[in-house]
Amino acid sequence: MRYKTLFFGLSCILFAYYIYTPIPENIEEYWKVRIIDAGTKISSLMGTLFENMGIMKFEDFFNILMKLQNIKPVSDENITVIDTDFSSIPVRLYLPKRKSERQRPAVIYIHGGAFCFGSRKMLPYDFLNRLTANKLDAVVIVPDYRLAPQYPFPAAIEDCVSVVKFFLQDKVLEKYGVDPSRICISGDSSGGTLVAAVTQLLQDDPKYKNKLKAQALIYPGLQAIDTMMPSYQQYQHGPFLSRKVAIKVSCLYLTEDEELPKAILKNEYMPEGSRHLFKFVNWSDFLPAKYKKIHVYREPIIGKLNASYPGLVDSRVSPLIVTDSQLQRLPLTYVLTCEHDILRDDGLIYVTRLRNAGVPVTHDHIEDGIHGAIAFSTAPVYLNLGLRVIDKYISWLEESL
Ligand SMILES: *[C@@H]1O[C@H](CO)[C@@H](O)[C@H](O)[C@H]1NC(C)=O
Ligand SMILES: *[C@@H]1O[C@H](CO)[C@@H](O)[C@H](O)[C@H]1NC(C)=O
Ligand SMILES: *[C@@H]1O[C@H](CO)[C@@H](O)[C@H](O)[C@H]1NC(C)=O
Repeated sequence: MRYKTLFFGLSCILFAYYIYTPIPENIEEYWKVRIIDAGTKISSLMGTLFENMGIMKFEDFFNILMKLQNIKPVSDENITVIDTDFSSIPVRLYLPKRKSERQRPAVIYIHGGAFCFGSRKMLPYDFLNRLTANKLDAVVIVPDYRLAPQYPFPAAIEDCVSVVKFFLQDKVLEKYGVDPSRICISGDSSGGTLVAAVTQLLQDDPKYKNKLKAQALIYPGLQAIDTMMPSYQQYQHGPFLSRKVAIKVSCLYLTEDEELPKAILKNEYMPEGSRHLFKFVNWSDFLPAKYKKIHVYREPIIGKLNASYPGLVDSRVSPLIVTDSQLQRLPLTYVLTCEHDILRDDGLIYVTRLRNAGVPVTHDHIEDGIHGAIAFSTAPVYLNLGLRVIDKYISWLEESL
């Protein structure tokens, strides 16, 4: 009992402290966002505390919080929702009930969560994908790819590729009444990383070339080469996603060795012989002038970290590190970026690079957006921003698919 009181008291003090951390003023529902931001910072602190006390790992603590949002597959009057397997990987399917004269479009949705968290079962994703199925009369497939740290790189990308290849078989498309010429792959955050990588891999595979009509990347992470881009500096303390937490968690995709996140925080982690990759993510070349502001480009330092992690130089982790000729073949692309987001510049640079390569791109930039907006589209942390992001994405799907 005494511990509970102490714990409660401590939480109140921390909350009072964090709620006074300012956030950018143009943000809609300013106080709600401030509360979410404070809540996230307290959770991070508690996660760190538990980890240091040896109670549980930081990521396990967050996983418990995330799993609270999981729901069972529930069908409604319009959509049948079922859990099944594609190529022995669990997927949740959203299948429209209404009779259709013609074949339906399909969307494969890859969820976010820094490669460590999240599930097809989460309520915000259920809301988004049910709405997509309903509005587009589309079949929606949401895979549960394997997560880090238990299953590090390349498990996640391999699972996503398997699910997509399984679905793209003629007999499977036929079974679900899907039009093979109207298939999009979408994802948010690390799901966006996986979408960009899957799309590049399939485009280079003669058997699957041109099978995806479009890709949609919602506040995606697209490179692990430079973590000192202007957006990483401007929004290093959030709101919501801080540079430190993002690096700590997403590193687990590559290794559990704690030297890597330490080196990444200093931007001194790229291996000897990797300098040729910098030109693909050089923000000084690819960011529109208004985002460069007062920032001065500095090359990441190479050769400081002794251990080498192959994922750091792999385009399946950093889809930005491919040549223009590899980008040229990519399909119609949607990119949504949020201003107040460390990953903003990853998205902006991909937009520039894709357009330079001649790929048709639709880009929506949310001036008052924060990272993870879709996670805040349902109770208990409901923000109007979440609905605005979903609305923009679904409008694009309606026009493009
Ligand atoms: C079912 O579809 C109709 C027409 O689009 C819509 O008005 C209704 O809200 C939908 N029901 C649910 C549960 O989403
Ligand atoms: C990055 O871009 C700037 C400006 O164009 C250029 O001066 C610099 O050499 C580039 N560095 C690398 C490593 O590409
Ligand atoms: C890396 O290796 C060098 C030479 O073997 C050694 O002097 C240095 O301490 C090592 N650095 C780290 C961070 O382990």
